[in-house]
Amino acid sequence: MKALAFSGSLRTGSWNERLLAAAVKGLEARGVTVDVWNFKAANLPVYDPDTSDANPPAAMVDFKARVRGAAGLLVATPEYNYSYPGALKNLLDFASRPSSENPFRGKVTAQLGATPGPGGTLQAQVMLRHVLAGLGCHTLPGAFTVSRAADAFDETGALKDERQRKNLDDFVGRFADELTLRSR
Ligand SMILES: Cc1cc2nc3c(=O)[nH]c(=O)nc-3n(C[C@H](O)[C@H](O)[C@H](O)COP(=O)(O)O)c2cc1C
Repeated sequence: MKALAFSGSLRTGSWNERLLAAAVKGLEARGVTVDVWNFKAANLPVYDPDTSDANPPAAMVDFKARVRGAAGLLVATPEYNYSYPGALKNLLDFASRPSSENPFRGKVTAQLGATPGPGGTLQAQVMLRHVLAGLGCHTLPGAFTVSRAADAFDETGALKDERQRKNLDDFVGRFADELTLRSR
């Protein structure tokens, strides 16, 4: 049982990377093998239909193979201007083409998000779910989100609040159960 985990943030010191790492720990504790993909290191160009399908960069070929090799995707996204970042949309658009080779079809997805603001990335989550569903993913209901992220984590990267830690563990558990069902 394998999951691919990545965040839609390119920012050094990202809150979403921190939240992703906490969720990955929980998944691994439940026996899920997690492949953590580094978005920033991939250094992807903007998707250009004139050239990108025929000549994709090696990092994109690698990302698509990782999606294909996983039963599900754990995606942590920031909120940018009431949606998710353009860089993440570019990644999803790029990887979805050519449509005959769309690697997202049938994958279970679980959504996370962290923001230093009060809104918990909820608007980004709605838009991300819409796109993931359009790509043929089975989106896990709900999302685990963190507001006021600058105060939410301790120095080890764990969530400080016990109830929040339990909620994350429950969310990760639901994702692991869904992965098990779909891996049979
Ligand atoms: C272009 C831009 C737009 C943003 N818009 C929002 C927003 O709509 N809602 C929000 O909660 N935070 C917004 N933020 C603040 C981000 O939540 C903040 O930069 C956060 O640290 C991004 O996540 P990261 O730390 O994982 O990179 C915005 C930041 C940028 C750069």
